[in-house]
Order: sequence, then C-alpha cells, then structure tokens
Amino acid sequence: DRSIKIAPSILSADFANFGQEIRAIESQGADWVHVDVMDGHFVPNLTFGPAMCKAIRPHIGTVMDVHLMIAPVDPYIAAFAEAGADIITAHVEAGPHIHRTLQAIRATGKKAGLALNPGTPAAATAELLDLVDLVCVMTVNPGFGGQKFIHSQLDKIRTLRKMIGDRPIHIEIDGGITAETAPLVAAAGADVLVAGSGVFSGGSVDKADVYGQNIAAI
Ligand code: DX5
Ligand code: ZN
Repeated sequence: DRSIKIAPSILSADFANFGQEIRAIESQGADWVHVDVMDGHFVPNLTFGPAMCKAIRPHIGTVMDVHLMIAPVDPYIAAFAEAGADIITAHVEAGPHIHRTLQAIRATGKKAGLALNPGTPAAATAELLDLVDLVCVMTVNPGFGGQKFIHSQLDKIRTLRKMIGDRPIHIEIDGGITAETAPLVAAAGADVLVAGSGVFSGGSVDKADVYGQNIAAI
C-alpha cells in the first residue's frame, strides 16, 4: 500500500498528556503514531524508554512506530517488543552489527525498520533490504524536533526508491516535514511522513482541530 501515511511524532506533544494527544491526532486522521526514543549518547537528547512506550500503548489505536535513536540497540529489543511496538527502527550507524540487530527485531515478530542519518548514503542499505519492512530517511540530524529540512536528502530518497523496486518496504521520512516539504518527499518516492512540530505546533489537547488542519495540510 503506497498511499501516503502521516505519522505524527509525539516528541512535540504535551508530555503530561500523551493519552489525550494521541486520541486527538488519531481522531484527526493520523495513520501511525511515531515514538522517538533517545538515549543522550547516540543523539544529544533524552526522551523515554520502554516503560513509557508500554504506558502509552493502550492509547494507540493505529500503529506504534518506535524510532530507536540509541546505541547499543540489541539489549533493548525485547523490552520494546514487549512494550507493544508494531515497528522497531534502528539506525545503521548505531553499531557494527546492524544485520544481526534487524534479524533480532524480526525474530520478535515485529516489523523492522532501518534509519539513515543525513550523512549516510542510500548504498548503506544494499545488503539489508531483505531484512527490513521500512527504511527511514532522516531529513534532519536526529535529536530534536523543529529543525530545518535538509534538501540534499531528496536524491537519497529517489535512489532508495529505485533500490527497493517491488519489495514491500515503506520509505519513511523523518524531520522538517511541513506542507512545503511533504510534496517534495512524496514525489521522490516516500510513503510515510513523520511530522512533529508541523502537527503539534500551536496546538494543545483542547485544539484537536488544529492538529487535524495541520495533518490535512501535510
Ligand atoms: C528527530 C526525530 C523526529 C522529530 C521530527 O530526531 O526523530 O521524529 O520529532 O520533528 P519535526 O517534524 O519537528 O522535524
Ligand atoms: Zn523519529
């Protein structure tokens, strides 16, 4: 299914009201819920771990898309699987054994995603495409919401779309997605658009319609 899906990132939601925030975006058309896990080591920011994912899981009626910006990854795969992730995405840069990591994610029965930092070429996925359900192209350097879209990544998206061919692999774009950049990445071959500040900016739990307008604009 190559229709465009919107995956709001709760990194930009009200951390004291995840349940209400998730209900608001889902009622306004969000397709997946994107959960950014950061460790203060692989990326220069800290968010939350498997216990928080487990706590919010009952509030998610769609897909829980967990983006691990952590290193190492392998010791935590089981915990995120048990927390109810549907998709677990690890970074190709997170360690020397990404092949093993992807196998381990698949072994839990969850879908496996592979994320690429802006400095990593599409070719880094070449030996891994048979192990993944999703490739996540970072269009900002990971760590923070609200950064500016890096336009040089559009060529990478086009290259990946060619490499993937007929395989049932999503191309997800993460970072700087707005009403302006969304059409560019969709035209380049992306089908899942993560959006944090673009969805939640200016909103609040009692302004679900603002989220809906933002989601519709993307
Ligand atoms: C960045 C995260 C993104 C981030 C996107 O490290 O992986 O998911 O929340 O935020 P925006 O849409 O504000 O760039
Ligand atoms: Zn993310």
